[in-house]
Formats: sequence, C-alpha cells, structure tokens
Amino acid sequence: MCGIVAYIGEREAYPIIIKGLKRLEYRGYDSAGVALLNNGALNLYKKQGKVANLEAFTEDKDRGGSAGIGHTRWATHGEPNDINSHPHASSDGEIAMIHNGIIENYDSLKRELQRKGYSFKSETDTEVLTILVEDIYKNSDISLAEALRLALQQVVGAYAIVLISRKNPRQLIAARKSSPLVVGIGKDNDFFCASDATPIVEYTKKVVYMEDEEIAVLDLDKGLKLYSIDDVAKTPYIQELELHLEALEKEGYDHFMLKEIHEQPRSITDCFRGRLNADEAWVKLGGIKDYEEKIANANRIIMIACGTSWHACLVGEYLFEDLARINVEVEYASEFRYRNPIINEDDIVIAISQSGETADTLAALELAKSKGATILGICNVVGSSISRITDAGSYTHAGPEIGVASTKAFTAQVTVLTLMALSLAKRKGTISDSTFRTLLSELEAIPSKVQEILDTNDKIKFISEQYQHASNALYLGRGSSFPVALEGALKLKEISYIHAEGYPAAEMKHGPIALIDEEMPVFVIATQGTSYEKVVSNIQEVKARKGKIIAVVTEGDETVKGIADHVIEIPETDEQLVPLLSTIPFQLLSYHIAVMRGCNVDQPRNLAKSVTVE
Ligand code: AGP
Ligand code: GLU
Repeated sequence: MCGIVAYIGEREAYPIIIKGLKRLEYRGYDSAGVALLNNGALNLYKKQGKVANLEAFTEDKDRGGSAGIGHTRWATHGEPNDINSHPHASSDGEIAMIHNGIIENYDSLKRELQRKGYSFKSETDTEVLTILVEDIYKNSDISLAEALRLALQQVVGAYAIVLISRKNPRQLIAARKSSPLVVGIGKDNDFFCASDATPIVEYTKKVVYMEDEEIAVLDLDKGLKLYSIDDVAKTPYIQELELHLEALEKEGYDHFMLKEIHEQPRSITDCFRGRLNADEAWVKLGGIKDYEEKIANANRIIMIACGTSWHACLVGEYLFEDLARINVEVEYASEFRYRNPIINEDDIVIAISQSGETADTLAALELAKSKGATILGICNVVGSSISRITDAGSYTHAGPEIGVASTKAFTAQVTVLTLMALSLAKRKGTISDSTFRTLLSELEAIPSKVQEILDTNDKIKFISEQYQHASNALYLGRGSSFPVALEGALKLKEISYIHAEGYPAAEMKHGPIALIDEEMPVFVIATQGTSYEKVVSNIQEVKARKGKIIAVVTEGDETVKGIADHVIEIPETDEQLVPLLSTIPFQLLSYHIAVMRGCNVDQPRNLAKSVTVE
C-alpha cells in the first residue's frame, strides 16, 4: 500500500530514490519522505502530500549521499501529516526506517517501550518498530541486523521495511513479511530495494524477490546476505527482470489509465499467446497443467478476490458453470477469510489479483491452504506474493498496470478464465468440438474487435459529455453482463466520484426503479443473446419513467437504437465472450467523464493501486 525505494552504492542516492518514488506513487500518496547518509550525518526530510512536495521542501537542503531510503505513504495508523510520514527515526537519531504494512501489536509494544522511558513523536505503528529496534540494539552488543531480527520476532503483522543507520554507513537492512519487497543487484557494486521492480528496472535487471520472514543485508563490502527470521542463512534466488522501461511511461497518452485501456488489444493477445490455437483446436495453460485433472473433477471451485478482480471472478463463474459444468462459488476475500468458511481438501480455490499483493486475498488464500484446499492464482505481477504461495497458476501477462483503476488487468483476467473454462470443458466433453473451435476462433478475434471499439472513442467521448454532471448512475446487465455492469459502476465511481450502482437488469423491478427520473443515466448492456428481449423490456421500463438510456448493443441493432438516448455499438461475438468487449465502452466512458470533471484519473482520492493492508 505504500512505496518503498532505497539505494546504496557509488551513485547519488537522492535522484534514484525520488524518481523511484514517483514510479510508486500509485501505491499511495498521502506523504513522502527520504533519509540520506552524507558525511556522517543522517539527513531526514518528510512532508505530507505527493513526492513533488518533498522535492520542493528539500530544494535548499543537503540532498547528498550515496545511501538513502525513501517512502511514499498510504496511511493506516495516524493521519497523513508531516510527523506521521516516513522515514521514522530512532530517539537517538542513529537509525531511520521506512515501512509498508501494519504492526498489529504495536500498541502493546509501544506501552512497553514507554515504560522503559521512550517517547514517541508520531501516531504510527512504524515508529514503534523503529524504537523497538533501537532499544534492542542499544542494550546489547549485536549487529543492527540482529537487533532487527530479534525485534521482528516480537512483531505480529505485515511489513516490508528498510533500515539505514549512521553507525553502519555501508549497509542497508531490509525485511519482509506479507508486504512485497524486491532487491536489485546493481552492476557497480550497488544495491536497490523497492516495493516492486519499477524503480529498479532502469538500473539493473538482476532482482531477488524477498520471501516472507526474510532479512536481507545489502553490504557494500560483504555483498548481499539473506537469512530467515530464525537466523537460517538462505541463498538468494536471483531472477532476470523481463520488465522494460518504456512499459512504465505514458507513451504519449494523457494518463496511464487511457494508455492501459488502449493497450488491451495487445494485452489480451499477450495473455493468450502460446495458450490457444483455433486452427489446431487446442488450449494449453502450462501453469496449471498438473492440476487440470483435479480441477475438472472438483466438486466445487471457490474464486476469491477483491474489487475489479472479484468482478472477473463473477464472469468466470458464468463461464465455468456454463461451459465446463463445474460448480463455482465467488467470494469477497475479505468476507471469506473471517466467515469461518467450510473448506474441504477436494476444493479448488482460485485467487484472482492484478497486484498479487492484496492483503485480504492473500489471507483468504492462506486460510484455504491451511485447510488443505488446492490453491491456484491468476495474477499479473510475476513473483508477487499470491503467485508464490499458490500451488500453481496462470499469469495474465497484461504488463504493468499503473492506473489505480484496473482496466487491462480485468480483460486479461477474463481471458485467462475463458481459457481455463474452455480447457476444462474440452477435457470433460461438456461442449462439442465445433463449439470449442468456434469459441477459440472468436477468442482469437477479440483483440481486433476491441480495437474496433477503441476506434469509436470520439463517439463515446461525446456521450460522456452529456453525463459528466450526473450525480448518480445505474448500470444494468443480465447473465455474464451483470458483472460487467458492476465493473462499469466501479470504474465510474472510483475515478469520477459519481455514485453508481450495478444491478442485474431484472432486479430493477425490486426497488432500484424507484430511483429512475430524467436525471438518472442508466447504462445497459443490451447485446444479442439469450436474454436480449428481456433487457429490451427493462429498457422500456426505464424509458417509461423518463430515465436516460445509454445502451451497449451489438453493431447493427436497430431495435434498441429506436428506444435509447444513446447507443454504443460493439462487434458481434459469441455470448460467452461479450464481457471482453462490453466492458471497453464503460472504461472509456468513466475515463472521459472523470477527465471532464477534473479528477485525478490515475491516482483517485483515497485510493491506492494495491491494498496491501487490511
Ligand atoms: C479496481 O479498479 C480497483 N482499483 C480495485 O478494486 C482493485 O481491483 C482491487 O483492490 C483488487 O486489486 P488486485 O486485483 O490487485 O487484488
Ligand atoms: N502502517 C504504516 C503507517 O501507517 C505504513 C502504512 C503503509 O503501508 O503505507 O504509516
């Protein structure tokens, strides 16, 4: 939920850290801070607000030094202000710490330290951990790394932390549990550390994804040392990053979100590349091949996720049940983990997560694992926590998604779920060979059809202008278009701050129709398919009450065109694949409305890209 960047080596640390923090601002932007070692001094600067505020604040300060730590915060304990910003310093000023996560037992630790005479400047849990390390370090003849290890043995909670200290100017110390942390091994005897690889990739592609309860000492003289919280030495698993710098830039788009919306023809192609062949009629998901038999014979599949990824699960439920005839239950991870759910050893639990770091999804997965279920993951970030604790899984290969509002990750998730459902249906013989081939061909054609919709951007932008001042909105769909309605509503509310709700179209009669008046825009997915006529009736019901209808229809539809206030045509495809297309107009509508309303599209208020705290 926050962004961590640290550097130690031969270069100036400050510019590396600031640039890296800007790359991580999508993870939280309540405040930012930096601590730099220079000529024996530990210079610590921190300010509420975005990284740019920190830059302005340090303009006339000593920003020198070749070792430093930096943090951009999403507050969990203590409001966003200067004092609660990170880094936090020990009371003697010798040590500074940055932290992503939550120290759950910080209160009891704080009271114990207060009894020992320590005082605290901030309201944060992080400062407590900093002082705890100081207390242990000061009262024993051990290394700082050892003091940190002993402190962490007293900690309950999640952390990705980096420590810097005046007495140890040639090393940084890092540790992680549940929150992500990546170590970069530079070419010139230097080290990087960050919440993900984006601040590191332009300097080195050699990285180590830290595991839970690991401590790393980045020492300029002794190199990288890795060991467990139980003091067991570990061999670092050095990976070669596949990430490329241009993927992190906006490449001419006004916002990352718009870039990522327009990337979808490519990201969907990348997602099914090497995994399907319509001509030869095969689907191959290498990541789960050892578990396909088990999944195909499962009594039940439980899909868990949060937010947009939860909507992808709902689409998956329709696909798996209709095509592969497997019972699927979709659960909000945050509810599932606390409900004392019934989980059997023959259950298959699939977690869907763009970041692979969402705390609730991770915790729900760990619960399922502890009960013996087979746990699979569908993630976008290679090496993410969820991808590493699961028995198997499939990456979505959508590329870095920087915009807080998820777009290409959603269509990539639905693409993977479609491939899984088709593969299982083929194995079980629940669909005919011709249906299998048709769906594969249709799936291969989806990227070009997405491009056709993107090419109608100007029309969609015009429609957006009509509704930019709306206070409320309804989204309706039936079947697998119902989750798309939910997703469309989430997109609008999270970036334009307009209240929006998604509903099954048939549910209108059970209450929501009372909301309809001439001020209420109703976005409806009314594409050709099983329930088309029923949806047309729902549109009539809304029109009868003077509601405004914006309908997503199959191109060439004249019926709805004669009733609705606006129609957005999408290319024809198999009903099972409509969600991959019908979501695109809603992404563009919410984007344009948010821009017209002057909202911060890539970093909406109160939100962060990856919710790694509960
Ligand atoms: C999506 O637009 C939201 N930003 C949010 O709901 C997101 O989908 C949710 O936090 C889950 O994130 P994940 O996919 O990384 O687990
Ligand atoms: N719990 C810490 C705080 O509130 C860290 C939050 C974060 O992960 O950004 O400062």
